[in-house]
Amino acid sequence: MKLSTISMSLICLVMWIGSEAAFADRDTDVPVPTHDFRNPNPEKVALGRVLMFDKILSGNKNISCGTCHHSLAGTGDGLSLPVGEGGSGLGVTRNVGTGSDLIHERVPRNAPPVWNLGDRSFHTLFHDGRVSTIGGEGFPSGCRTPAGMDLPGNLESVLACQAMFPVTSGTEMAGQAPENPIAIAAASGDLPQVWELLAQRLRANPDYVAMFIAAFPDEISSSAEIQYSHAANAIAAFESVAWRADNSPFDQYVRGDQHAMSKNQKEGMKLFYRGDKNGHSCAECHSGLYQTDQQFHAIAMPQIGSGRGSGPDGFEDYGREQVTGSASDILRFKTPSLRNVALNAPYGHSGAYNSLRAVVEHHLNAVDSLYAYNANRQAVLPTHPTLDTENYRAMDNAAIVDFIASYNELAPFSFTKKEVDLIIDFLSALTDTNSLDLRSDQDVVNGVPSGLPLDD
Ligand code: HEC
Ligand code: HEC
Repeated sequence: MKLSTISMSLICLVMWIGSEAAFADRDTDVPVPTHDFRNPNPEKVALGRVLMFDKILSGNKNISCGTCHHSLAGTGDGLSLPVGEGGSGLGVTRNVGTGSDLIHERVPRNAPPVWNLGDRSFHTLFHDGRVSTIGGEGFPSGCRTPAGMDLPGNLESVLACQAMFPVTSGTEMAGQAPENPIAIAAASGDLPQVWELLAQRLRANPDYVAMFIAAFPDEISSSAEIQYSHAANAIAAFESVAWRADNSPFDQYVRGDQHAMSKNQKEGMKLFYRGDKNGHSCAECHSGLYQTDQQFHAIAMPQIGSGRGSGPDGFEDYGREQVTGSASDILRFKTPSLRNVALNAPYGHSGAYNSLRAVVEHHLNAVDSLYAYNANRQAVLPTHPTLDTENYRAMDNAAIVDFIASYNELAPFSFTKKEVDLIIDFLSALTDTNSLDLRSDQDVVNGVPSGLPLDD
């Protein structure tokens, strides 16, 4: 991967999108930003499509990637916090399982959407950025990740590096030890063994073997050569192609169609990029073609769910600090892309806000909004016999709420109510109309090679 090219084009984009020229009468000399998507072969995309939705990749064969990233739920799951393996159902109808399948914990963070991540400009994934090509030079995979040197060298992109991890999480996909050999390997931290056991399942399925040979003609000629990393490459190829969403009214506008956006959307765009009367703008963080600087900021987002092990009692989530160990990163989370944002509720790293207006209003005065949250709880969480008492455990603890407030770095905005309406109009211009209907067989499957049932 040519990092220098990526950072140069990002810098140009930031300068261009941030510049006054972009919003003045259009000047034909203004460079139009170019999208830079990978173009994998169709066989690889077809393989990735079935792998995305096949429960064969989970220890107990009861959950797929698509359970939490489904075309029919805006490439997320519609919940504040996902229900991992053991639950059943899709989207907001998903339940927490019963009997021995009852989930042990909720997944601690919101499942982010997967739009546009096949563009080469994306270098950092997860809310805390723990998978990134930045700093990945010394690793065989080219990615800096929690797996360090264990991550194989044949991964084709940051998206492929990411796809190595969900299968290693007991709560998400592997299951609880000793339920199955994959769960046992995952619980002992033996990631290469998790990947090997999954590869063995794929090698034993003739339909998959044929698809892998077709997708990787230069690398695979027999079942023995199939590795889980090939599956990760194929899944990444599917995500890149199927969930590309770069033909919104905003894209059409920046490519030169003055009429693609409404008057209100253009007004909202000016406010978004130029800011309030003090020049304080959304684009300070939501910059570049995809409205993200891919950096980390603390904006006093409410913490819901059981947390991710941070803090004295372990039910907080310090975000970026969990990766860097640096006190200056406490409570910083990655700036999300705002593409298709109108389709992606609930919002924030723990899904605390269920409406787009609520999360935008949170930004106006983040600390006030944090304190007001207790009267304004919006989480979307399927009920659970014991875990429900933990949903608002952090927010019910005054010391923790004060702590979150103390780390806030987002200064208040002075936008009027009318201006906020216009900004929300602009955010809706970031929706690619093709993403409104993802029922086609480009996006979903009717069956998978393992014969395992799909989510319903
Ligand atoms: C149980 C739900 C669940 C399953 C199953 C799951 N994910 Fe996710 N996914 C999440 C959550 C939650 C996050 C964010 C975690 C974090 O940031 O700590 C995430 C993050 C991601 C991201 C990063 C997005 C970004 O913008 O940073 C991608 C890509 C992704 N998942 C793809 C996959 C793939 C591919 C699989 C299957 C191999 C998969 N997921 C399985 C819940 C799930
Ligand atoms: C200081 C940097 C910063 C500024 C300025 C900023 N944001 Fe954000 N924004 C973030 C971060 C970081 C998050 C995610 C926080 C989290 O998950 O804890 C976020 C989340 C969001 C989300 C939720 C997206 C999702 O998928 O969950 C929306 C919508 C949003 N911002 C819109 C705006 C708008 C509109 C403005 C201007 C009024 C703005 N932001 C200004 C950093 C910023």
